[in-house]
Amino acid sequence: MDTIGWGIAGTGRIARTVLPDFAHVPEARVAAVASRTQEHADSLVGLAESTLPGQPRPKAYSSYARMMEDPDVDAVYVATPHPQHKPIALAALAAGKAVLVEKSFAATYAGAGQIVAAARDRGLFAMEGIWSRFLPVIREMDLAVEAGEIGEVTSVQGDLFALRDFDPEDRLFNPQLGGGATLDLGVYAINFAVGHLGCPIRVTASGSLFPNGVDSDVAMLLEHRGQRTATLAVSLRADGPGRMTINGTNGWIEVEPRFHHPSRIVVHRRGVIPQVHEAPQMGRGYAHEFIEVGRCLREGLTESAIMPLDDTLAVSKVMQSALEQVGVTHHDDEELPHG
Ligand SMILES: NC(=O)c1ccc[n+]([C@@H]2O[C@H](COP(=O)([O-])OP(=O)(O)OC[C@H]3O[C@@H](n4cnc5c(N)ncnc54)[C@H](OP(=O)(O)O)[C@@H]3O)[C@@H](O)[C@H]2O)c1
Repeated sequence: MDTIGWGIAGTGRIARTVLPDFAHVPEARVAAVASRTQEHADSLVGLAESTLPGQPRPKAYSSYARMMEDPDVDAVYVATPHPQHKPIALAALAAGKAVLVEKSFAATYAGAGQIVAAARDRGLFAMEGIWSRFLPVIREMDLAVEAGEIGEVTSVQGDLFALRDFDPEDRLFNPQLGGGATLDLGVYAINFAVGHLGCPIRVTASGSLFPNGVDSDVAMLLEHRGQRTATLAVSLRADGPGRMTINGTNGWIEVEPRFHHPSRIVVHRRGVIPQVHEAPQMGRGYAHEFIEVGRCLREGLTESAIMPLDDTLAVSKVMQSALEQVGVTHHDDEELPHG
């Protein structure tokens, strides 16, 4: 596979933010975009033409199903609301494509399991688009932790607050579109905890709901083997710093706000002057995950060791448990979106 042809499924906010970052992804091109409407597909292609000059014009499909038949599409980036991830990812995998599925991977744990099973059964690549894990400074942090710089990790603590005006029609709040703080923000905090502590053995959550029943705030305590814990809080109705710390027996690391796309961490070790690591991201920071998918596809890998599917499943399980405790039930669509 020389140049990887990407198909972008969905034309909303994240698709429009990510697309210009293809300028930083070598040996990749946007081959096609899919939408429920020709107007939206054409609009995203227009953005590709203006931000990726010199690249061939992507095809604009007004049907998600038809893009899956395109032989120029090797991998599909799923950039729709959460309940639509499952049918799109399953259709892409059925057509033999690799998938990069935006966070949250699916709206339910069962849905996430179905996508993972489909990819594994077919021997095809799948990954959740947790861009944070691929950012250069986060890779430096992982190396520092693996090298034992802060000793044994005992806990992580952090928040991700994003104050947004409540709009029940918006993807962020609409229950039909997988709205709520957990699927939108909690996924990052839980992902961070799972990445450093593994799958928790117990989840305790408490939270509040918006008037339409989706979660506005959730506080979580994750208990992990070896008396290790994660204390996490997320909110869509209050602002907060977006900090995260990893704490260990010989020090701690602060991931400076906002922790899901940092450019700076500070390593504090006992008896040593704090050490600052700075590493800028390319573009808006999304190229790194696409580069990783390209590397995996060229090496014939079906999963990324940096963002493995078992971690995605663990995160999904925690989210489902937390949501059950605060009284929220989500669903995954069965049918592909259509106009
Ligand atoms: N990694 C990040 O930094 C980041 C940031 C924001 C969001 N996200 C994730 O990206 C995904 C999309 O979020 P977003 O903020 O881009 O959402 P959005 O602005 O609402 O856009 C979603 C797009 O999905 C398509 N879609 C397909 N079926 C749909 C349906 N039934 N209802 C509504 N739209 C439908 C629409 O495109 P068409 O009209 O063309 O079909 C729509 O424009 C979510 O998984 C979200 O968590 C990630």
